[in-house]
Order: sequence, then structure tokens, then C-alpha cells
Amino acid sequence: MSKLSQLLCLTDLSQHQLRDILTLSLEIKGDPAQYRTALAGKSVALLFEKPSLRTRVSFDVGIHKLGGHSVYLDLQNGAMGVRESVQDFGSNLACWTDAIVARVFSQKTLIELARSSQKPVINALSDLYHPCQALADLLTLHEQFGELNKVHLAFVGDGNNVCHSLMLGAAIMGMDLTVITPPGFGPDAHVLLKAQQLAAKSGAKLVLSQHLSSAAGVDAIYTDTWLSMGAKADPKQVGQLFADYQINTAAMQRLAVKHFMHCLPAHRGQEVTSEVLDSDYSLVLQQAENRMHAQNAVLVSLFS
Ligand code: CP
Ligand code: NVA
Repeated sequence: MSKLSQLLCLTDLSQHQLRDILTLSLEIKGDPAQYRTALAGKSVALLFEKPSLRTRVSFDVGIHKLGGHSVYLDLQNGAMGVRESVQDFGSNLACWTDAIVARVFSQKTLIELARSSQKPVINALSDLYHPCQALADLLTLHEQFGELNKVHLAFVGDGNNVCHSLMLGAAIMGMDLTVITPPGFGPDAHVLLKAQQLAAKSGAKLVLSQHLSSAAGVDAIYTDTWLSMGAKADPKQVGQLFADYQINTAAMQRLAVKHFMHCLPAHRGQEVTSEVLDSDYSLVLQQAENRMHAQNAVLVSLFS
């Protein structure tokens, strides 16, 4: 297993390293006792500028299971850079902790934290990416379907952080991905270009569409909230623009798709109906459980 130095974006990983992370995730999931002291004596800061259930708990519990110690910093009432600069935050944290996990409004904050702390920084969601989520999703797809280069996933919804990390993960691993967004909500142009370059290398097929019908026959459909944390758009207007992209039983049947994925939190009756979310189609709890195993694999490879 080659050592990692940070996880700001999935492009920090080669195909080889990403494959190693998935293998290690499965090993940790299958035999957690073997990794009980992997982080002994290590302290990890958990900084959250935005709310979280899955990411916060899976990191906190996961670090404990690896024998490490986590310190949670609730910044939801005052973002980094207000009481003191991000640079001072990073350099001070470096005095006591061995790594920083951060959920931030801006990817730039992560880069500044990494620079000023000189410690490994893990992106726990930013405006641009959600790499830990994509790792858990790739692990789930691998468990469900086997070799990722034989899988075809469709992402439906807002071409935002979760979509971006899935694009990069799929492109690195040679997995086919169809991204379906309403007009005006497509992925960021720079991320798209990077994903296209990686896909050309791995053989992944990356297709962009504005029509839900493009998801016909895929192995799984993935969706995310129509309104991400911190988004300023009018919820009513967004609801209208995205209405045709709702994943409901009729759509799953019409498209002949048997598996449904969502990073959660889900907004029942908006991007997905309860009928689909709670059905046998749904892999959402497997994804949520895999957050911890995938993140633990990242932590172990940071300190190995
Ligand atoms: N999927 C995810 O990141 O969930 P939280 O926002 O609850 O952490
Ligand atoms: N796109 C969502 C993901 C939540 C896990 C958001 O940024 O709010």
C-alpha cells in the first residue's frame, strides 16, 4: 500500500492507490480487530463549518476503532478566518494534532489548512468535492457489482460536489458514468475537463445529458439534494426546475434500473420518493456504513 499524504480531491489518488484504498476498506470491514491500534497515539482534528451526521459520526467512531483520538471543533457559529486566520488555525492545530479532517465552504480553505499546518488534510466536503463520499460509493458499487470497469452508474440532479467526486472517481477507475442535470446545473467546466482527461486514460465512458431517459438500463441511479448546504437559490424555483428529475418508482421501472443510491441526507418527496428510498432498490445504508470503512482505509494509509 503506497502512503497517502492528503485527500483534498480524488485526483490526489492514482488508480493504483484508489484500488488499494478499496481493498484496504474491505479488509478493515472484514476484520476490524486487526486495525485496533493502527492510529495509536495519533490525534485528528475534525473541523466542521457546515452540519453533518454521517461524516462527523463515521470519522469520530472510525478513529476510535483504529485506536486514535479525535477532537471535534464546531465552527457552525463562526467560520474559520473570522476569529483568527485560516493560516493561524492550521499552524496552531499542527502543534497538537497529526491530521485534519475539514468540512468547509471553500476548497481554498482546505488548501490553506494543508499549507499552514504541513499535516495531512482530508476533505470532509467542500463547495467543489466530497471525496470521502465517492470512496464509500465506489466501495458499495464494487461490493454490489464487482469490477468497477464493468459498472455503469447514472448521476441525476445537481452537478455539484458529490457529482464532481463521482465523476473523478469513475474516470480514475474506468467506470462508465452518465451525468444527468437540468439545464444550467451541469458540472464545473474544470472538473469536467479533468474527468475527461482521466477517462481517456482509464477507458471510462463519461456522458453528459439533460434527459432522465439517458439513465435507461444503467446498473444504478444516484441522486443528491437539489439544494446543497449554503446554496442561495430559491427552493420553490429549484423544485420546479428539478421536478422532472425526481427518482420515483415509475422512473425506476420505466428506466429498468434495479439499484438506487444517495449520499444522504435525502429530501423525501423531492429528489427521491420514500417508496424508492425505503425499497429493495436502495443501497443508501450500505453507502452510509461504508463511509466509515473507506475513511478508515484513508486514515490507515496516511499513517502507515
Ligand atoms: N453524506 C454526508 O456527507 O452526510 P452528512 O452531511 O450527514 O455528513
Ligand atoms: N451536495 C450536498 C451533499 C451533502 C452530503 C451538499 O453539499 O449539501
